[in-house]
Amino acid sequence: MGVIISPSLLSADFLHLSQDIETVNNSEADWFHIDVMDGVFVPNISYGMSIISQIKTKAQKPLDVHLMIVQPERYIEQFRQCGADILTVHLEASTHLHRTIQQIKACGMQAGVALNPHSPVRLLEDILPELDVVLIMSVNPGFGGQSFIEHSVNKVRQLRQLIRETDSRALIEVDGGVNNETGARLIEAGADALVAGSFVFHSASPVDTIKGLKELK
Ligand code: DX5
Ligand code: ZN
Repeated sequence: MGVIISPSLLSADFLHLSQDIETVNNSEADWFHIDVMDGVFVPNISYGMSIISQIKTKAQKPLDVHLMIVQPERYIEQFRQCGADILTVHLEASTHLHRTIQQIKACGMQAGVALNPHSPVRLLEDILPELDVVLIMSVNPGFGGQSFIEHSVNKVRQLRQLIRETDSRALIEVDGGVNNETGARLIEAGADALVAGSFVFHSASPVDTIKGLKELK
């Protein structure tokens, strides 16, 4: 299987959200990336459970929910109820990360951990065997359309190595500033999944842009 593509609805047109969901349904994308921001962990506020429940009624692919919120453990059950299939929390936002991961899995979701650009991948060493996904942030989280942080490519390479050493089956997903050029280098470094927001939804044909990302090698 090729690279997994997870278009971020943060860059969708919220006045025509159902059309953009249909576009992703009809494309080669694999997941829907849903960014939840609380205005505390990141300096921005996006959307929450009621919008996600409505997205779920239309989406024909798994919901890949990225929580940029403090104390994510308080809302795990609610995100399951509104339709999350993969639930990713930030390493920097969860004090008892191991417990949080077990709670996500006990609710029947796949569990992910996201790393901010300043957090080294080695911090995941003891939790990697428990994880389904690691989300490497290649921008500082909070906004779409930012420029790619170069060091992320090295982090993907280091994480690929650490996954091998720890016998983990976690997928490596990368989020922020992804386009055809950065995407190709991330795949070469070992990425399994790419999130793309503005590159997809601000393009003339999101379906063709997603197809182009799927064809990257
Ligand atoms: C940023 C979000 C991203 C965002 C990516 O905090 O986590 O998912 O939508 O947007 P682009 O692809 O435009 O960098
Ligand atoms: Zn995201």
